[in-house]
Amino acid sequence: MADAVNPWDGDLLDFAAYGSTFTNLIQSIDDTKVISIEAGFGHGKTFFRKAWAAHLRQAGEVVVEIDAQQSDHSGEPIVTFLGALLAAAPVKERSKVASLAAKGGKLAGVASKAALRIVLRNGAEEVIEAASGWMSGKVEGNEALEESVKEIEDGMSKLAGQMIASQLAAEHARQMELPEQIDALRDALTEGRKAKRVVILIDELDRCHPDYAIALLEAMKLVFGRPGFVFCLMVNADYLEGIAQHRFGTKDAGEKYLEKFVDLRLRLRVTEEAVRVATRDLAMKLPLAIPFGEGEAFSVEAAADLAGEWAVKGGLSFRQIKRTLQRVEIALRCYRDRPIDCSLLVHMAFVEAATDVNAVAFSRAELTKRAVEIAQKSEVDVALSGLHLVSGELFVSKHCPELMGLPDDRYGLGPAPEGKIWHDWYKVLVGFGPRYVPEHEAMLQAVHRLMV
Ligand SMILES: Nc1ncnc2c1ncn2[C@@H]1O[C@H](COP(=O)(O)OP(=O)(O)O)[C@@H](O)[C@H]1O
Ligand SMILES: [Mg+2]
Repeated sequence: MADAVNPWDGDLLDFAAYGSTFTNLIQSIDDTKVISIEAGFGHGKTFFRKAWAAHLRQAGEVVVEIDAQQSDHSGEPIVTFLGALLAAAPVKERSKVASLAAKGGKLAGVASKAALRIVLRNGAEEVIEAASGWMSGKVEGNEALEESVKEIEDGMSKLAGQMIASQLAAEHARQMELPEQIDALRDALTEGRKAKRVVILIDELDRCHPDYAIALLEAMKLVFGRPGFVFCLMVNADYLEGIAQHRFGTKDAGEKYLEKFVDLRLRLRVTEEAVRVATRDLAMKLPLAIPFGEGEAFSVEAAADLAGEWAVKGGLSFRQIKRTLQRVEIALRCYRDRPIDCSLLVHMAFVEAATDVNAVAFSRAELTKRAVEIAQKSEVDVALSGLHLVSGELFVSKHCPELMGLPDDRYGLGPAPEGKIWHDWYKVLVGFGPRYVPEHEAMLQAVHRLMV
């Protein structure tokens, strides 16, 4: 049973709570409404849309999902809406629903033919047989059907879309025929349901050409703004304001324009704590084979804490966070035969992705810079080299004491000269100090070259 599946499986950002609240809101609406659900790029709009659609369906709603980007190339938003509504009907009902659209003369003939193609493209081949009857009666015989099947294979023809658009421009069609058909579609879709409401979730508007996005919004409002339709736009607020400006040039007019379209603006807000926890949980799965040392500082837990901090302070979207962790993961897998400082890898990967590279301090990452500086100064200034080394000792004991006391082969210094010993801080500073950061950096760079 579909009910057994939790639509929010895998939800790391506490979106389920928003899902419940928004569902209550939707179920209290019975006139037409346009709601925007806003979040930045990569902040989870599509994830939310998919889970929420399932949630709404389980709550008894008729839900239509439209990926505006995929429909962009068909060029005609009304066809997009009609096709999506038709595709939402149960397969058995589709030919009936499609033929509903065939009533009402020439306009409907063209519209339903085009809409039928979309239904077919959506995989309802069953419709072909059922539809052949009314198609052959109403259009130009069976050849027309065959022709449209071929066109389906070639993709939706732009011409059909344009034909509909010009037909729709006729006042009569807009005022009389289309509204009737749309209401009939709504009734067919909600047959036997308590609420006569169709929820249409529109996603990826911000990935369309602005002209198409505007046409889609206008078609939504003018043609489909009928009782019983609730539209939810999953958008980036800046983008929405941007396309309004694109339409009118000035910002003020743009804002007013937006107000006309959107009745209610909601935000999908993710708390810092949720991002931290989600990132930490993801990072806890990092496959570290050989830790750099045995101490807590080299554990996956420590790396996960650091990732959580970066996630909060780095100004990144959740998509960027996931990608960054993925890079670390691949590096860990590719170099699983070497001891790796997992926290250092995490830190360096986030530094590269973040807008503010200094958002999170991680003192071990400074070791190489200091080690190289001290080596150079000592070379130039032999008399003071002891003094320089003292500053190195201070740095190691203050900023990365955890690097002392690791297995000797880590440092690569070889045995100390007769009668001498290497101090622990010296092993760190002079032993692997100069190599420590570059070697980890090289792993990440290699992964960069591997990943698309
Ligand atoms: N609540 C969540 N739980 C787990 N992963 C999420 C969640 N929200 C988003 N993601 C993941 O974050 C990435 C970006 O999300 P996405 O929905 O594509 O963003 P948007 O549509 O806003 O650009 C995707 O990999 C998605 O799976
Ligand atoms: Mg998206």
